[in-house]
This record gives sequence, structure tokens and C-alpha cells, in this order.
Amino acid sequence: MTDSPPIYALAYASRSSSNLDNSDLEEILVEASAQNRMADVTGVLLYDGTTFLQYLEGPEEGVASVFDRIKQSKRHADIRVLTSGEVPERYFWNWSMACQHADASLIQRIEAARWSERSHPYLEEDAEHNPGLRLLAEFWSVQVPPTT
Ligand SMILES: Cc1cc2nc3c(=O)[nH]c(=O)nc-3n(C[C@H](O)[C@H](O)[C@H](O)COP(=O)(O)O)c2cc1C
Repeated sequence: MTDSPPIYALAYASRSSSNLDNSDLEEILVEASAQNRMADVTGVLLYDGTTFLQYLEGPEEGVASVFDRIKQSKRHADIRVLTSGEVPERYFWNWSMACQHADASLIQRIEAARWSERSHPYLEEDAEHNPGLRLLAEFWSVQVPPTT
């Protein structure tokens, strides 16, 4: 039996372009979901009208290629990577990419939380020991209960 390939995760926050409206967001999400499906990437996006916070997870090369596309988008700027590295499991396997509105204060708390020791990706840790991921997962599970 072969082991399943390792899962990588990357989280970042960014500032949206000033003229972004709902149809822009819809366009981003439709394209993002299609690309992510092809790359076997899942994840979630929070938006407060100004700041994006996105979590991507999947095979290393899939996450890297998706993040390359994201970095090239003119619809946001000032991208701050919060964490990047191997993780023990997929947390958002239900969503090729879903977006929820969140309060600015919550996004700030998630961004400010400890995500990982910068020099040591949280390889052996789980969400319990990763305050940024834990806050994000808690918010998500209340907003969007998993489908069974
Ligand atoms: C906040 C944000 C999140 C995005 N998420 C993804 C994603 O998950 N997967 C993906 O392939 N592209 C993602 N993109 C890229 C867009 O789908 C699209 O390629 C890009 O917006 C098109 O370039 P443009 O915005 O400069 O017109 C994202 C872009 C933004 C601004």
C-alpha cells in the first residue's frame, strides 16, 4: 500500500483593490474553484470588504501553482503569507473554494494569531496547537456546517 501524498497548506492575508464589487468576487470564486479542482486544492476565503484571508491546502505543487495565480491577480495587493508548509491533514476538504463574509475584527484576530513557528512548519501539530488555523476552522464550522 502506498502512503497518500503529503498535504501542504498556505495561508495569506491581502488588501482588496478599491473597486471590487460582488460580481468581481463571484468571478474570482468561479475561476478559483475550477482551477483548484484541477490542482486538487481545497480551502476557504474570508472577506470583510477590505481584507482577504485565504487558506489553501493540497499537494505541494498544486498549492504552489494556485498561489502563483493568486499573486498575479490585480484584484488585491499587499499579500502577507501567514504560514506555508506541510500539515497533518486536510481541514476543508468539502470546499474547492468557498467565501464567507467575516467581521474585520475576526480577520484581524486570525491574521495576528500564531500560525506556525516561522522556521518550523507545523508538521507534527494539529489545529489544536495552531491558533490561527483553529480560529479559522471554528468560525467556518459555525458558519458552514459540514455536509454529511
Ligand atoms: C482573493 C483572491 C483569491 C483567489 N483565489 C484563487 C484560488 O483559490 N485559486 C485560483 O486558481 N485562483 C485564485 N484567484 C485568482 C483568480 O481566480 C483569477 O485568476 C484572477 O483574479 C484573475 O486575474 P485578475 O484578477 O488580475 O483579473 C484568487 C484571486 C483573488 C484576488
